[in-house]
Amino acid sequence: MGVQNNQPNTLWWQSGVIYQIYPRSFQDNNGDGIGDLRGIITRLDYLQWLGIRAIWISPIYPSPMADFGYDIADYTNIHSMFGTMDDFDELVREIHARNMKLILDLVPNHTSDQHPWFLESKSSRNNPRRDWYIWRDARPDGGVPNNWLAAFGGSAWQWDETTQQYYYHAFLKEQPDLNWRNPAVRQAMLDTMRFWLEKGVDGFRVDVMWHMIKDEKLRDNPVNTAYQHHMATYDQLLPVYSTDQPEVHDIVREMRALLDRYTERMLIGEIYLPIHKLVTYYGKDNQGAHLPFNFQLLTLPWNARVIASAVSEYEGALPSQGWPNWVLSNHDQPRIASRVGAHQARVAATLLLTLRGTPTVYYGDEIGMRDVPIPFHEIQDPQGLNMPDKNLSRDPSRTPMQWNNSEQGGFTAGKPWLRLDRNFYQVNVQAQKDDAYSMLQLYRKLIRLREEYIALVAGNYMPVYADHQMMAYIRAAEGAPRLLIVLNFSHRPCYFKSLAEPLKGTILVSTSPELEGTTVEGTTSLSGDEAIVVRLDA
Ligand code: NOJ
Repeated sequence: MGVQNNQPNTLWWQSGVIYQIYPRSFQDNNGDGIGDLRGIITRLDYLQWLGIRAIWISPIYPSPMADFGYDIADYTNIHSMFGTMDDFDELVREIHARNMKLILDLVPNHTSDQHPWFLESKSSRNNPRRDWYIWRDARPDGGVPNNWLAAFGGSAWQWDETTQQYYYHAFLKEQPDLNWRNPAVRQAMLDTMRFWLEKGVDGFRVDVMWHMIKDEKLRDNPVNTAYQHHMATYDQLLPVYSTDQPEVHDIVREMRALLDRYTERMLIGEIYLPIHKLVTYYGKDNQGAHLPFNFQLLTLPWNARVIASAVSEYEGALPSQGWPNWVLSNHDQPRIASRVGAHQARVAATLLLTLRGTPTVYYGDEIGMRDVPIPFHEIQDPQGLNMPDKNLSRDPSRTPMQWNNSEQGGFTAGKPWLRLDRNFYQVNVQAQKDDAYSMLQLYRKLIRLREEYIALVAGNYMPVYADHQMMAYIRAAEGAPRLLIVLNFSHRPCYFKSLAEPLKGTILVSTSPELEGTTVEGTTSLSGDEAIVVRLDA
């Protein structure tokens, strides 16, 4: 059984749909081939039409772009490539005028190596900011301080000639990790958050939240015996001492306490951990992150039985006040349409938008965008460039949004920083807007349904059935119509028959729109790749 949650008065981040914008690729307004804030402003009406409640924008701060903005050189400014602070203020106003919310990406684990804090820190061993980063002597033989590896390849330690010490970086050497054991660092980052909260920002998505603090003794990580050659070199070790330390929860609590001083602000944590560890990020007494990102749909095999049991496990593991959430794609992972195929991506959309909890939609997934082959010599992503033999480039899922069938899909008047999918002539917003059979219409209908049916937002999750082909569940809130969702995870037709009680109702939304409005009773047959949302008779 699902966790009880009859909560009619839900907050915006519970009832609404979050939409992730990768700003380089959403809309270019000044013709330089890179998306910008004014571009986003011009597309807000579209997002409102779609029914989006909150927008999360990947980093827009000044940055040398070694990791496309996840290497921040100034936490309280806007990169000129994306616009000005005035543009940002206007963006906030325009978003709020449409009754939408803005979530910024906060990257507190590391800065750019060009950040003034780091430039000071590396200037001498006696600099007051020396301890803002993690510096260690070489071993007596000159070797690195411990065996920790960087997520983007190689050792996590970089030698500094000037001061004759190593510094730690969990990602690129251009992204030195801050020392969160230093109270001044904590204060500086909270000040940063306050700056944006005062500007009206409604929440933060905290980058690599589980990385923020490391083992005090910097002990060696153990070997991962399950490592296989195709994996990133980082996976050779288990990051037992470099991530997910008990003290991280104190930091998250401090961030949350700051947010709680403002009205209805929220905190998302980017966390790749097994469920039992992930849920600890809700914090003791629910004083941690509002939404520790749940990436199960991103990482698990696309199989009805596997997904059904993962949903139940998650429902069962959530703390009593913990609000669930679901993610299908993001800027670090292959897109859902490329992982499961175009047809199953429609089933996945139905799952995402009917499970209990807040859905996050990655830009372009709503029109079925897929990963785009980027020729080898055009690779931009450092993860792809550093491990060229492993197919780890994230460029394919970061390509420009496909708005219409004009030159460059309406994304830019210039040369796009990454090539578009050649299918943009057909697969684009304009073409799908009035097509009842399109992915875009499916997304819009499902989002609408969440507004119309309280059961989809505040109702319980009740698993009904799962086998190797399909999954079925009911969403039910007291005194409101119950909804039955049946998803065929396979390309073959299948039958659904409720074993527990006879289910009778009307199809509200389906991946096959011609079924909408038809009734369902007894044994229902589904085509391959079909999903239905049924309003049950009382
Ligand atoms: C997670 C971000 O989502 C990813 O894009 C980035 O490369 C790393 N953190 C490092 O900041």
